Amino acid sequence: MTTSLEILTPMVYKHFMRKLPFKERSLLFAPMEGVTDEPYRIAIERAFPEWDYLCTDFLRVPTVGSFSTQKIIGHYGEKVLSTPELRKKTGFQILTSYRAQTKEMVSRLNSIEEIEHLDLNLGCPSKKVNAHKGGAYLLSEMDELREIIKIIRENFKRTFTVKIRIGYKNTDRFLDSLKLFEDEGVEAITIHGRTRDQLYRGLANWDYIKQAVKSVNIPIIGNGDVWTVHDIDRMFDYCECDSIMLGRGALKTPWLASLYYQNKDSLDDLDDYTLLEARKTFIQNYFDELEREYKKEENQNIRILNRFKSFSRYLFDDFENPEQLRSSFLRANSLDHFKDLLYGI
Ligand SMILES: Cc1cc2nc3c(=O)[nH]c(=O)nc-3n(C[C@H](O)[C@H](O)[C@H](O)COP(=O)(O)O)c2cc1C
Repeated sequence: MTTSLEILTPMVYKHFMRKLPFKERSLLFAPMEGVTDEPYRIAIERAFPEWDYLCTDFLRVPTVGSFSTQKIIGHYGEKVLSTPELRKKTGFQILTSYRAQTKEMVSRLNSIEEIEHLDLNLGCPSKKVNAHKGGAYLLSEMDELREIIKIIRENFKRTFTVKIRIGYKNTDRFLDSLKLFEDEGVEAITIHGRTRDQLYRGLANWDYIKQAVKSVNIPIIGNGDVWTVHDIDRMFDYCECDSIMLGRGALKTPWLASLYYQNKDSLDDLDDYTLLEARKTFIQNYFDELEREYKKEENQNIRILNRFKSFSRYLFDDFENPEQLRSSFLRANSLDHFKDLLYGI
């Protein structure tokens, strides 16, 4: 018997069945280890609240030994978890492997009611993680993958999504893995359009994201090589994906969501001068908010300076003389020096 929902077109069906904590056509700030810790996410939310959603970097599920709730809260951020406006805009990620204590960890995460959305990292290309049958490796082993997905789905009662690459060594199991996620009750799939073996080589292949949108009835979030406001439009148009996640593009232009939403209806009118002027204000605002947040937990300016230097590696590509500019920031000998340079751009 056909139910009334089944006669809807796939697009309408997806719209009605969608159970995600962010709206359709959202822009998501990607999880990035070493970057998206709690102070960074809070600073981004304050400086550029136009990002629809942010994600924590992964919490590793241990194979042996115990883990405390306090450690989990410490990793994800106590302030974020206890502030409804922040936590409702945050996806909390884990990274597990076949022999890790997934059931125990996920049950514990489920008991922390503030964690409303759990995301599983199935894209990590690290040799060590993959050797332990974790991260992107699981995309090559359907039985082990299914077992882990079932464990998480059975033990986590709120939103559960996965973040994948298009395969491990090749893309042979791409469609099978999408079906597996859909069948096991995963609520959305973020797809980075590269295999694990490609690492970051070449361009992300958006054809797979487009194909995924047509193949399953759960939302697909496109990811990979979205660098500009025009790329955002191009990915939405070409892939017809539910939402877009930005990683390196968000590090290079942390104000990209603001720029996009402020100029959405007239992107073609954005000229280089406007972009350059906007960039100066945005970049100062970015570091002001980062300083404010990092100062709450770090009283050594040198540590904050080192963090600033690591962020500045991603910036400046679109400025005049990017190499020179970047190296002057990397040579800054104090936080004040760094800020002087910033206000002199
Ligand atoms: C420094 C860095 C750290 C990353 N850490 C994570 C992570 O913790 N979890 C994850 O799922 N992906 C991680 N990624 C992958 C990104 O989330 C994203 O999928 C990838 O960079 C492709 O998107 P992009 O082309 O927009 O950068 C990381 C990427 C970078 C550059």
